[in-house]
Amino acid sequence: MTEQADLTPVARHPRTIRSFVKRGGRIPPGAQKALNAAWEHYGLALDSYDVNTPVLNFDKLFAKVNPVILEIGFGMGHSLLAMAKANPDMNYLGVEVHEPGIARIIKSAAELGLTNLKIARVDAVWLLQKVVLPQSLFGVQIFFPDPWHKKRHEKRRLINAEFITLLNSRLVKKGWVHIATDWVPYAEQVQQLFEEAAETFQAILPGLQGLLPDKGERLLTKFERRGLRLGHEVRDLCYQKL
Ligand SMILES: C[S@@+](CC[C@H](N)C(=O)[O-])C[C@H]1O[C@@H](n2cnc3c(N)ncnc32)[C@H](O)[C@@H]1O
Repeated sequence: MTEQADLTPVARHPRTIRSFVKRGGRIPPGAQKALNAAWEHYGLALDSYDVNTPVLNFDKLFAKVNPVILEIGFGMGHSLLAMAKANPDMNYLGVEVHEPGIARIIKSAAELGLTNLKIARVDAVWLLQKVVLPQSLFGVQIFFPDPWHKKRHEKRRLINAEFITLLNSRLVKKGWVHIATDWVPYAEQVQQLFEEAAETFQAILPGLQGLLPDKGERLLTKFERRGLRLGHEVRDLCYQKL
């Protein structure tokens, strides 16, 4: 069996209700090898992280001091990788629990020699609560969060009122959130939640903030392609912290 890189076990950070189910999937041997070799450069070492004294300092984490964008649930990572490559003056932190996606993005980042990308392999809510310091993120992007279609599963949706409060606390002033979904009921729920948070966020158009990835430019993600094949309408929703 191939030796595993020292990855933070997701189970170590349990939450009662999770927004994800860990999907299986084979990691090609080349990606596993690259993951083992490059995890120490790209992975966040959270095993020894002391949640009682959070000290994660983005200025020390990345090679250059630049604004940090967090992407939650990057899947196979195609669009995150393209953004990190296209914007060397921004730093990107991706969080995901899907191991083939983590291996793939780390392999590609190492091949490209990117120094503005880091990867966390944990529950994004835990990461935001325990590791990311208040007022430290320039932007947060969430492309095609698990829709949890069934009524009885709606409580598992990542974006809820509590999560929006958490985002607000971790974003810098004027920081933004970009959410894209192909599930209209989820889009409507997100809109409603941000309307209820109007004291802290205002709706903005995709592409308006210069650095915000333009709707037209955003690479189609794997789940977006799937949604489009199924005839789903894709909605991009962007908000700025006041
Ligand atoms: C529907 S997929 C979309 C993936 C990708 N953004 C795309 O559009 O192709 C949602 C992804 O979010 C990840 N995810 C969901 N909840 C998460 C959480 N709390 N922390 C980290 N990743 C999460 C899942 O593992 C999954 O890969």
